[in-house]
Amino acid sequence: MNNIIPLRTRPLPIFVILLLLLFSFSFAQNNSLPLIPIPVEVQQMTGSFSVTAGASITYNRAESRSAAEMFANKIRVPTGFSIAPKQGTDGSIQFGLLDKRNQQIGAEGYVLEVTPRGISVSANSAGGLFYGMQTLLQLMPKEIEGGVVANIDWTIPAVRITDYPRFGWRGIMLDVSRNFFPKEDVKSYIEQIARYKYNVFHWHLSDDHGWRIEIKSLPKLTKVGAWRVERAGSFGSRTDPIPGEKATVGGFYTQDDIKEIIQFARQRNVTIVPEIDLPGHSMAAIASYPELSCKKDTGTMVNPGTHFAEWYGNGTFKMNIENTLNPSDENVYSFLEKVFGEIAELFPGPYIHVGGDECYKGYWAQDTGCIALMRRLNIRHVEDLQGYFMNRMEKILKAKGKKLLGWDEIIEGGISPDATIMSWRGVKGGIEAARTGHDVVMTPTTFSYLDYNQGDQTVDPPIYAGLRVKKSYSFEPVPDGVDAKYILGGQGNLWTEQIPNLRAAEYMSYPRAWALAEVYWSPKEKKDWRNFSRRMELHFTRAEAADINYSRASFDAIIKTSIKNGALIVAMDKELSDLDIYYTIDDTMPDDHSLRYTNAVELPGGPVTLRVITYRNGKPIGHLITLKQDELQKRAGK
Ligand code: ACM
Repeated sequence: MNNIIPLRTRPLPIFVILLLLLFSFSFAQNNSLPLIPIPVEVQQMTGSFSVTAGASITYNRAESRSAAEMFANKIRVPTGFSIAPKQGTDGSIQFGLLDKRNQQIGAEGYVLEVTPRGISVSANSAGGLFYGMQTLLQLMPKEIEGGVVANIDWTIPAVRITDYPRFGWRGIMLDVSRNFFPKEDVKSYIEQIARYKYNVFHWHLSDDHGWRIEIKSLPKLTKVGAWRVERAGSFGSRTDPIPGEKATVGGFYTQDDIKEIIQFARQRNVTIVPEIDLPGHSMAAIASYPELSCKKDTGTMVNPGTHFAEWYGNGTFKMNIENTLNPSDENVYSFLEKVFGEIAELFPGPYIHVGGDECYKGYWAQDTGCIALMRRLNIRHVEDLQGYFMNRMEKILKAKGKKLLGWDEIIEGGISPDATIMSWRGVKGGIEAARTGHDVVMTPTTFSYLDYNQGDQTVDPPIYAGLRVKKSYSFEPVPDGVDAKYILGGQGNLWTEQIPNLRAAEYMSYPRAWALAEVYWSPKEKKDWRNFSRRMELHFTRAEAADINYSRASFDAIIKTSIKNGALIVAMDKELSDLDIYYTIDDTMPDDHSLRYTNAVELPGGPVTLRVITYRNGKPIGHLITLKQDELQKRAGK
């Protein structure tokens, strides 16, 4: 048997070597392409195309013009090239709607081809062309995101990309009630998320802290409901309004503003889903029209962020100020007819979100009208009045040709199978809803709440809970045992109690909204944290070029403590594998000469302070995290 060459040393056939070379080349190249969300198919080819002042941009039909114009506008400032797109099919950069439908890419997909001779973006729809154009921009040097001329070569690697989304619903919710975001900021935010191929902007337009949409037949909603008294300090612990105090903080969108934003979103393949949160979360409406509540307290004011709710854990709570509409009052339904009449006229999308979350029924339980209604309906539990209310809502919306969408509480009271459920208290509600035939949008707190802090709670401003980008990235929207056809897709939710402006909204959104964009767009099989995290860092540099804010919590150490035999044990972790963690427990500042973390360590007793810093390639990169003994012990108790 000595004629057999051991496998290790046997020469590989030449075609295998070539194949391996090709594979490793394309693998390495794919890794370095800064694309988020990662496309379905990427074929790297040799060579590149450079955009120069002599480039020409063409579009084949009126409907493909918008993508061509947006591309030309986007590159105008950073390249300094003023290229006017023309109708035709002979440009060096072509945007083309397909004459014959490409079944593989569906309604929102695209094919992008870059060769040394030129670029072509083709799709079945204007939305697909918009997405192809975004991928093309991501392939360009990061300076394309800047606001000044950059004298560089605008080289794009030769590539053929075929891409289409996994889910049809890829949303981000922005709460504009807790803090008002001016029209231009809303547009900027929509633009930002559309560039990551989100196609739903869920607009949380009303809550206890402000009513933000002009309803012409109910002028007090914005004259009164859009304004609160000025208060500083942490949301949820601010002082009460003083009776008669002037309410000066807030704002609202006129119907003309709304139309402008809808049009802006539509050009970017984004459908807007307006939300009016009912029957709870309605203090701003009640401040405007107190007669809609049970107590009819004319002293109700829009809340400036006081501590008016008691949370008892396991989902129970009490509202110390009434913030629910009265479900037994027919005037409430006349009010809602008017509100949704105007909203249905304004918003072309099929869905209207009616909230339904965290509705406190304590005032209903004591109201004679509600008690009489329960008797008439043979309802034993006041909780079930919400089901009655939501079914009335659904009838109102149906009559206006709209579909009802609500937070997962709406299934508890019994709702028609036509209602779509947004699962936020974990995925449990979504699973139950899908099993009973409802369409579901997955947006669980555990993976998709963008208001939760991203890094160590001693570094990021405090909020109810934490959620790291790696966890968001690990989200699988279709739970085991659920028929995928009921899962429309998912969302990230940006509640803004602690977010006063766009810069802060960006910080909280990114990079988690990029991670979720990949979860909702890209094939499940392509998900790979290490690969994503490299692309994420490339997008940090692009965000910097665009002057868009983001969190750097991924560069920080993750510090956990436990208690074993009475001693404090510290375990540290990291999201990025190439970070080195250094720490001190001797009240000195840590650097790369300090203790290097490898395994869990037992801390000595006494008043120790742990200081931790991360390094990469010999340079400090993360935040300094300082944990005193009480914080170390508190963590162990969690
Ligand atoms: C919610 O977060 N209250 C839907």
